[in-house]
Amino acid sequence: MTMIPISERTRSEMDLANVFRLNGRVAIVTGGGSGIGRASATVLAAAGARVVVADLDEAAAETTVSVIKEQGGEAVARRVDVSDPAAVNVLVDGTVSGLGRLDILVNNAGIMIRRPLAELPPEEFDRVLSVNLKSVLYGSQAAARVMAPGSSIVNTLSTIIDFATVGTGSYAAAKKGGEALTRTFAVELGPRGIRVNGVAPGWTDSGITRQRGVDDTGEFRQDRFDELARKMASSSPLGAVAEPIDSAYAVLYLSSEASRFVTGHVIRVNGGASMV
Ligand SMILES: NC(=O)c1ccc[n+]([C@@H]2O[C@H](COP(=O)([O-])OP(=O)(O)OC[C@H]3O[C@@H](n4cnc5c(N)ncnc54)[C@H](O)[C@@H]3O)[C@@H](O)[C@H]2O)c1
Repeated sequence: MTMIPISERTRSEMDLANVFRLNGRVAIVTGGGSGIGRASATVLAAAGARVVVADLDEAAAETTVSVIKEQGGEAVARRVDVSDPAAVNVLVDGTVSGLGRLDILVNNAGIMIRRPLAELPPEEFDRVLSVNLKSVLYGSQAAARVMAPGSSIVNTLSTIIDFATVGTGSYAAAKKGGEALTRTFAVELGPRGIRVNGVAPGWTDSGITRQRGVDDTGEFRQDRFDELARKMASSSPLGAVAEPIDSAYAVLYLSSEASRFVTGHVIRVNGGASMV
C-alpha cells in the first residue's frame, strides 16, 4: 500500500496548528495587490511562508508587502502581467533564484468585463481568456518545472462555474476552462507529488465587484454597491456575501499539509449559493 509521506513534525506533535504552518515554504500569489489575492498573500505569510506578491499594479503589490511586514511576515513585490508567458517564466525563475524554491503558486489574478456574448468583440474575449485562463496554464507550466513533491498549485476560479448570468459569458468560459485545467494538471502532476486545486469564491467585496458600484459618470456609489451586495446575499442560504479572507482560508488549507490527499478539487466559498 502506498501512503503519502507526512512530515515528522506533524506526525510527532499532532499539533493541529502545525499542520497549517508553512515555515520554510515559498509562495507566489498573482493578483496579490488587491482583494482575494491580498488576503491570500497575507494569510500565507501569517502561516510562515515567504510570499512573492505579484501584480500588474506594482504599487498595489508593494502595499500588500507593507501589510505583511507590519504583521511580522516576509514578502517581496514583483510586477507581472500574467497573460504574458515570458513574464510569468521570469517571475518563477526569479523566485527560485532569489528565494531558493517554490512550493505554492496561487494563480489568482483576474478581470471581468461584462458584456452580452452577442456583442462581444473578439479582442475582448481574448483579453478575458488571457488574464483569467491562459494565465493558469502559463503559471502552472512554469511552476511545474521547478516544484518539488509536496508542492501545491491553487487556482482562483469563481462560483460562475455553476451558473449562467447575463453579461458574464467570457468570464464564465475562462473560469470553467480554469476548472478543466485544474483537474487535468492534477492528474498530470499528481505522480510528481504536486497537488492542483481550485477555490471558487462567491460574490466577494473586492476590486472586481466594487466596479459594479461605479455609475455612468465613473463615480463609485456606496449605496449602489450595497444594494447589489444585498441582492447577491439573498442567493446564499447564509444570507451574506463573502469577504476576501473567506477564500484566503481555503487557499491556506489547500496550500498546507492538511490537504495532502486533496487534488483536482474545487472548494466553493460561496455560502452555499450553488445549492439553491
Ligand atoms: N470578487 C468576487 O466576487 C470574485 C468572485 C469569484 C472569483 N473571483 C476571482 O478572484 C480573483 C481575484 O479577484 P478580486 O475579486 O480579488 O479582484 P481585485 O480586482 O480586487 O484583484 C485582482 C488583482 O489582479 C490584478 N491583475 C489584473 N490583471 C492582471 C494581470 N494581467 N497580471 C497580473 N495581475 C493582474 C489586479 O491589479 C488586482 O490587483 C480573480 O481571479 C477573480 O476572477 C472574484
